Formats: sequence, structure tokens, C-alpha cells
Amino acid sequence: MPTRRSVLLAAAGGLALVLAGGAWRVLRRPDTAARPWADAGASTAADVRLDAFRHAVLAPNPHNRQPWIIRLMGQDEAVVSCDLERRLPATDPKDRQIIIGFGCFLELARLAARERGFRVETTPFPEGAPDGRLDHRPVARLRFVRDAGASPDPLFRWILQRRSTKQPFDMARVPSEADLAGIAEAAGSGVRTVGINDPARVARLRAIAWDAWMTEATTPAAHKESVDLMRIGAREIDANPDGISLKGPFIEALAAMGQLTRGNLLDPNGAGFKAGVDRYRPMIAATPAFMWIASDADTATDALAAGYAYVRANLAATARGLAMHPVSQALQEFPEMREHYQKIHAEIGASKLQMLMRVGYGPRVEETPRWPLESRLVA
Ligand SMILES: Cc1cc2nc3c(=O)[nH]c(=O)nc-3n(C[C@H](O)[C@H](O)[C@H](O)COP(=O)(O)O)c2cc1C
Repeated sequence: MPTRRSVLLAAAGGLALVLAGGAWRVLRRPDTAARPWADAGASTAADVRLDAFRHAVLAPNPHNRQPWIIRLMGQDEAVVSCDLERRLPATDPKDRQIIIGFGCFLELARLAARERGFRVETTPFPEGAPDGRLDHRPVARLRFVRDAGASPDPLFRWILQRRSTKQPFDMARVPSEADLAGIAEAAGSGVRTVGINDPARVARLRAIAWDAWMTEATTPAAHKESVDLMRIGAREIDANPDGISLKGPFIEALAAMGQLTRGNLLDPNGAGFKAGVDRYRPMIAATPAFMWIASDADTATDALAAGYAYVRANLAATARGLAMHPVSQALQEFPEMREHYQKIHAEIGASKLQMLMRVGYGPRVEETPRWPLESRLVA
């Protein structure tokens, strides 16, 4: 995120802090926020549901809000609902993206259960699908059934390695058509998953994705929704392991010197805002391929199905050494986005675009924070 000048200032400030005995502050890392990833890897819970949900909470989800509430029922069932306070009304006015995150969550629960020889019978929206935004009714009811025929899915083993790689990709290594087709196939049925690496088409999508990113950033309510969810530095991340994490020695040093604040992230003329633009512009430009997920209709059930497919695609990309990163701005349904929304649907020729992702070879990145499963379980 930092600009060259802020890097120099941060380096100087970081050095000054180290000399002043503040090394612990600049170098500290979020600790408790990473623990749920280790918990899933080590999970040997007697109750398969706990094992499944320890993996499910690692699902990709918008702004990492982790809106799931899980109620275990009897010996073998669970009801999953949405914490309505964790939605994103400015950028996701129909809760469509939040529902996609639930689809990812449910698919990971199923993969983990299968690994232990259980199939999960899923009833989406058991008390009726929302016609509009989500409400207090459950998103899904699950029944875990021991099943000798439930063979493990090879995607399971990538759950702990999966990431949303918010980094520039290597433009000299273009993902092959065979890999893109393999990922699309692994995503499964119910939606259409497509990948392209044709330079002219990819360039057109990059342009739309960037214009849409800028539109979101300069729409005050939409941008504020993101800034309000930024966790600046390890202390804030550990205290609230969700939202958008800004971390690392430079961030800690900038924050310690008062150069990175919610105020200057919000203000389009502020240093924090400009650093965000300076980070995302080259990132989106360094996109050698795109994939997308589209559906025929725009119901809550379609969004859930898009989530099943999205996390499977993300896992299948990981298995191939490919990085994936959703860029959702042009797909969003708030009024200021209308022009880009229409442009991207026309460009792709889809009736309803659910996900648009950058795909390429990128650096290995750390896992994002999570709330532990126990904090999402209700009696
Ligand atoms: C429906 C959906 C939309 C998303 N849109 C974006 C996006 O526009 N930009 C972005 O950087 N990440 C996006 N993400 C990725 C999330 O930010 C990411 O999943 C979350 O921060 C957790 O990080 P992880 O996937 O690395 O575990 C999206 C994820 C989902 C499921």
C-alpha cells in the first residue's frame, strides 16, 4: 500500500522506533487471528460437525465479515444463519455477495465431512428463500449422514493453502487454457464457470475492473463501508479478526507515526487513500487471465450455487499453483456502479454475473484472520 515517499518515511520511522525500543510494535504479527487455520489442520473432533465447521469458517467471503451463525441440533444436524449486522449494505445491497460467501462456507463443510466418510444433506433456505435481502430465517439446514460411499474429494487437501491473492501476477506466465478449463470443470455444475487468457479480451476486462474499482473508491458510502472495516496493525486485527487487514512492518510504522489513519484512508486527497490506489492500479494491471461465474437467474439460490462453485474453483486453482483474486466491483448492484455493471455484462454476454476473478501466478501470501469456530456457535 505505501507510496515511495511513505516507504522511505516508514523505513526511517521504523528504524527510529526500533532504536527507541519499539521493535516489538513494528515487527509484531497478528497471533490469535491466525489460530483457526491451525485449529482446522489439527482438528480431530469426535463430532464430525465441529470438524466440518472448523474448515468451513476458513471460507472466502466478502470483506471477510464471516457472517455465519451455527446452531448444532440434536446429534447430527445443524442450522446455519446470517448475523444480519455483518452484511455490507452499501456495496452489496441485495446481500448477493454475502450469500455467495455462505455457499463457499457450506461447500467447505461438505468437503471436510466427506473426508471423514460423511455426506451432508443440505436444505438451502429451509424456511423459504429470501425475496430480496436476507432475514432472520436460516440460510441452510444440514444433516450429517455416515456414508460408506462418500469418497474424499481431492480438493479437500487445498483448504488450508487456499488464499485470495491480492497481489500483482506474473505477466510473463499466462495460465494455460488447459488449466483454466480444468478449474472450470472442478467448479462443478449449476452455474457457468469460464476462463479466458486471450490478451485483447483480458485487457478489456482489466479496464472495466479498474474503472469500477475507482468508482467504488470514490462513492463515499461504498468506500466508507470498506474503511470502517479496515483493521490497522496486529493489535486491531487480533481484537477483531475480520474485515480488511492492513499489516506488516511498514503499516505498523506508518500507523505509529500517525501517517495512516481512518481519516486519510477515507479522504480522496489523503495519503492513505492514494496509497490504496497506488496498490490496486498495478495489481489489476498485472492480470494475465480472468475467470467468471455466471447464472441464468438472480435468486438467492443461484448466489448460493455460485459460492459452491467459487470456492471449488479457488481450491482447484491452488492445486495447480495458480493464484485467484475476486474483483467484484463491476458486478455490484448499487446505483453509482450501473454503467460498469452493464458494460461487464455486455462484454461477457451473461445474464447474471456472480463472480469475476483475476487468475495468474502470484506470490505466496499469508492467511487472513478468522474468528474461532467457538465464537460463531450458538446454543
Ligand atoms: C463474493 C465474494 C466477493 C469478493 N470480492 C472481493 C473483491 O472485490 N476484492 C477483493 O480484494 N477480494 C474480494 N473477495 C475476497 C475476500 O476479500 C476474501 O475471501 C476474504 O478477505 C478472506 O480472505 P481469504 O479468501 O484469503 O481467506 C471476495 C470474496 C467473495 C466470496
